[in-house]
Amino acid sequence: MAYQNVILEQVEPGIYRLTVNRPKALNALNSATLDEIGAAALEVGADPAARALILTGAGDKAFVAGADIVEMRDMTGVEGRAFSQRGMRAFRNLELLGVPTIAAVNGYCLGGGCELAMSCDWILASDRAVFGQPEVNLGVTPGFGGTQRLARLVGRARALELLTTGRNVKAEEAVRIGLAVRVVPADQLMDEALATARTIAAKGPVAVRLVKEAVQRGQDMDLDNACVLESEVFGLCFSTEDKAEGMGAFLEKRKAQFTGR
Ligand code: CAA
Repeated sequence: MAYQNVILEQVEPGIYRLTVNRPKALNALNSATLDEIGAAALEVGADPAARALILTGAGDKAFVAGADIVEMRDMTGVEGRAFSQRGMRAFRNLELLGVPTIAAVNGYCLGGGCELAMSCDWILASDRAVFGQPEVNLGVTPGFGGTQRLARLVGRARALELLTTGRNVKAEEAVRIGLAVRVVPADQLMDEALATARTIAAKGPVAVRLVKEAVQRGQDMDLDNACVLESEVFGLCFSTEDKAEGMGAFLEKRKAQFTGR
């Protein structure tokens, strides 16, 4: 698919990078951009050779500064609801992608931008990253999952403090509260994200996908059922060539060469 507002590239075999590309509007998310993010996630998901996806924003100022306020200004209630649902669909496509997703946050990560980053599996923050859910400044709530994903990530009290004050959080604090996993100097952000993606790409691909599936599905289950799920995916790994190769390579003291079969 040809995209106008995002750039989807395969930067190395199996490693995709999706860049939100509206730098003049600080990569704000309009309807077209939301649709393209959702479509790009499906496109990567359709590639069985995909191993990881890095999501970032164009330019050096913003990851994404939120949903597009110009587009939202004249929306009716019905249109606002549909806009929210559009974002929810796109972000859910991303969240359910079979391979790990890393948000490489290179600047302002506000409102819909923070919600987009939280739809990835984890956030790697540049030391210039600024996070926040400033929707209350505009007289609205978050609409792309912020009230739900932020509370799940950082806990109810911290989420409510951020959501009701609209306070911005710098990278170090984002790590401290569990929103981001690590801070790196801005000029090393993409190298770091790529290094992590390469590490993942060298592991057993079936196991990596099943780990993500187990964590994602398991977190909304009770512990007993979640542990049953883990036993199922663990057992499934034993039917793969990757398992034979991984354990064989360990015992033969050599590096495993996985095929994803
Ligand atoms: N939507 C549309 N345009 C935006 C935008 C947004 N969310 N954020 C920035 N822009 C545009 C600005 O209007 C400006 O355009 P012009 O050059 O045409 O005037 C351009 O991007 C550059 O922005 P600024 O001049 O404001 O840059 P700055 O460095 O002074 O400030 C900023 C940067 C602090 C991020 C500021 O732009 C800002 O506060 N942006 C809005 C952040 C926000 O409120 N986000 C939440 C949106 S609501 C939402 O996301 C709802 C939801 O959950 C679904």
